[in-house]
Amino acid sequence: MKVYIKTYGCQMNERDSDAMAALLREKGHEIVSAEEEADALIFNTCSVREAAERKAKGKIGYMKKLKARKPELIIGVAGCMAQRLGDALLEELPHLDFVLGTGQLHTLLEQLEKVRAKHLRFAETEPSPDVLTGMSGHYSGTWHGEIAITRGCNRFCSYCIVPYVRGREISRSQEDVLAEARRLVDSGARELLLLGQNVAAYGLGGDIRPPADDHSPFADLLDELDRLPGLLRIRYTSPYVSYFNRRLIRTLAQAEKVCHNIHLPLQSGSDRILAAMNRQYTRDSYLAKAAELRAAIPDLTFSTDVIVGFPGETDEDFRLTREVMNEMDYAQSFIFKYSPRPGAKSAQMADSVPEEVKEERNQILLADLAARVRKRLAAMNGETVEVLVEGISPRTPARWTGRTGTNLMIHFEPDAAVRPGTLRKVKITQTNPVSLFGKLVD
Ligand code: SAH
Ligand code: SF4
Ligand code: F3S
Repeated sequence: MKVYIKTYGCQMNERDSDAMAALLREKGHEIVSAEEEADALIFNTCSVREAAERKAKGKIGYMKKLKARKPELIIGVAGCMAQRLGDALLEELPHLDFVLGTGQLHTLLEQLEKVRAKHLRFAETEPSPDVLTGMSGHYSGTWHGEIAITRGCNRFCSYCIVPYVRGREISRSQEDVLAEARRLVDSGARELLLLGQNVAAYGLGGDIRPPADDHSPFADLLDELDRLPGLLRIRYTSPYVSYFNRRLIRTLAQAEKVCHNIHLPLQSGSDRILAAMNRQYTRDSYLAKAAELRAAIPDLTFSTDVIVGFPGETDEDFRLTREVMNEMDYAQSFIFKYSPRPGAKSAQMADSVPEEVKEERNQILLADLAARVRKRLAAMNGETVEVLVEGISPRTPARWTGRTGTNLMIHFEPDAAVRPGTLRKVKITQTNPVSLFGKLVD
């Protein structure tokens, strides 16, 4: 069977799509990049904001024409929106064959065969813990490897749909993660990205209380991975600020391979809004933790997620967010306009901030980010940095790109020895407001 897979949403979803693709390939099926060539179309969807659902539904709706021309074409919707809407999606989209929830992704092939043999229409959204092992150990094998070390989330931030569509948080065993890491490195991975909605809660059994200062199974895992021969870099996303205890900070400072960049979602800089969001920290405790991390790791960079226009967010709340963002000097930030999610707790509150105000706040934070980035990049001119080579630059094929441990991308002219997944030194020779350019110096 020729299968086309389109992914929406976060890195966890990307990883799931990669695992589904690998599972299909292992059974002799082909993954194709054009919808027209495919016998089956799979849309792995996201529910985190209404816009994410609208986009996926629009695309799936558009596939009706293709199906009219090719009646044997199978169309399936998988992932978070599939889990949230289930049978309702079959009603809404009459050309859809099946709906596959987040706990059933590992059964994709079975479902495709069921549709092909029996022409059934169904929604399979029963949560199953088997997804944890079923989706493990299948990947496409390049210099960059990803491992989902946890699935689901127990935190229930009041705006967030993830705990409802991804289910309760479960962690894989350290043994299992290490075995997968070794297999990935043996198949060529030089950088590993550890994934989880609350990744630093790994191994804590789903307890949402911050662990004791000397206890961090996540740090234990990083220590083990740091010793893995052949591996050059370790990244992880997304951690939650309360889990950076003494034990974890020590590991992050001492480990040789763990990158010096932390994606540390802030969401808001106002304590009132943070409390309404059910986030377990205050502005001051967040800033104190970041200061502790910076003291331990001087070249550390931070990135973040922020929501503007949460119910009841005033100009003053927004001003506080802006202030913390500038104080944190984030190297990157993802700014989202609040979107009420039916079923999440905050949907019971009125979505009180008008769309124009959300947009205005969004634009202000984007402009602040652009100014910070411009300044940071300009200050780097002349520096020599180590990058992990990623490959040919997608926009300018004469150049290659590499990334620093602090997560900055650098464009450079290749030499004959350049290979993806190797560490090289680059001297920065030119900067513009959004990019760094340099020359290989070793
Ligand atoms: N687990 C991650 C976040 C996953 S969702 C974490 O806690 O860090 C990615 C981001 O989407 C969140 O950090 C948040 O900023 C944003 N988001 C989640 N729900 C949202 C909503 N209802 N409206 C707007 N943005 C939302
Ligand atoms: Fe959503 Fe909060 Fe869990 Fe992140 S930690 S996935 S924002 S509930
Ligand atoms: Fe990710 Fe979206 Fe699901 S952010 S976990 S794909 S709701």
